[in-house]
Amino acid sequence: MATPMRTAVFVSGGGTNLQALLDSVENGTVKSAEIACVISNKKDAYALERARKKGIPAKAITENFEEEALRFMDECGAELIVLAGFLSIIGKGILSAYKDRIINIHPALIPSFCGKGYYGLHVHEKVLEYGVKLTGATVHFVSEEVDGGVIIMQKAVEVRHDDTPEILQKRVMEEAEWIILPKALELVASGKVKIQGRTAIITE
Ligand code: GRF
Repeated sequence: MATPMRTAVFVSGGGTNLQALLDSVENGTVKSAEIACVISNKKDAYALERARKKGIPAKAITENFEEEALRFMDECGAELIVLAGFLSIIGKGILSAYKDRIINIHPALIPSFCGKGYYGLHVHEKVLEYGVKLTGATVHFVSEEVDGGVIIMQKAVEVRHDDTPEILQKRVMEEAEWIILPKALELVASGKVKIQGRTAIITE
């Protein structure tokens, strides 16, 4: 059994996606990765509390984010980065240091409802406004283009006529985000994802 890939998780809010990752490592769904550290750009992110409860090094970085984050990840030996509800743009320094080793969860089916301004509840508000019948979540590699990296995994979720943005967000989290993010991390950490042009090839 190869050594689990040490993974940094970037958060900004409640950390339900982080919790899904922590639970998946604990129950064996994720075997090829371990959470080495958690970094938030917000001091009050409850996600930090979730990490501390598991004894995982957790740090809020509000200044000099890129330099401090790279330093902390170096200390923790992070080899991979997962953006889990992280609401800031990743700079060139981290992008180049972790090229093709950063994945993100987006709460919609990219290329729909993504890009600048599409985050958190705003995504689901736009989904309901447009009247689509299906939405879902996407895990993709992070590149310079916001939400434009190669897609690794997606899962669709039905939109109901009486949904509010809050109800839809909860369904997308429960039925998609919390399922595909751990699965995608396991595939990437176990070396089963190869990028060919714009396509991620999964070799089971
Ligand atoms: C979720 O909608 C997630 O899809 C988005 O940020 C929101 C909060 O995520 N990326 P979390 O509960 O902090 O993981």
